[in-house]
Amino acid sequence: MATKPKIAVFASGNGSNFQAIADAIQEGRLNAEIALVVTDKPEAFVVERARRLGIKSFSFIPAQYDSKQLYEEMLKEKLVEHKVEWLILAGFMRLIGPVLLEAFENRIINIHPSVLPAFPGKDAIGQTLASGAERAGVTVHYVDAGMDTGSIISQQSFPVAGRGREAVEEEIHKLEHELYPATLQKLFHQPVKTKDLYDSMQG
Ligand code: GRF
Repeated sequence: MATKPKIAVFASGNGSNFQAIADAIQEGRLNAEIALVVTDKPEAFVVERARRLGIKSFSFIPAQYDSKQLYEEMLKEKLVEHKVEWLILAGFMRLIGPVLLEAFENRIINIHPSVLPAFPGKDAIGQTLASGAERAGVTVHYVDAGMDTGSIISQQSFPVAGRGREAVEEEIHKLEHELYPATLQKLFHQPVKTKDLYDSMQG
């Protein structure tokens, strides 16, 4: 693994998590390089954020492709061209398909605004509040073929304590912006323990 892994951040919207990752890199808290921002929404604010930071972005329109397989093959080529090693999903509103899952096996990470496995999918904060759950939170996890079902890497939660949606959302974003870069730093740079190495060699 390179000392400074090259990552692509996938986002469909505001891009505050992309910003938090870029800030952490700039401040020396995360040793990585954002080689590319990828979006399926050319008008998303994340594109403007990338432009301001001088980071390359690539927009594509899924409807212009006949299938997910075709646009993922196109993306794979782009990612390989930029020597990307990890895909970091940050508000990317599409499921990753077999082409990218296979090309980046165990190298695709997502952040989700709930304490998984509770409340996967859309509007996780709304789901959390509607359920009357006592705690809300965020999860960083590996991406597999399911919707927010991959192995959990890190998680943080806090008591809802009668707070309304706006306050909970604010707290969630604050947590996300700390947890995501910190988790990525550990993931990219924690020394491999001998036991883990032997386990992985045994397949
Ligand atoms: C975050 O809440 C993230 O957990 C979810 O989508 C949201 C993206 O927000 N997957 P932003 O675009 O990073 O501001």
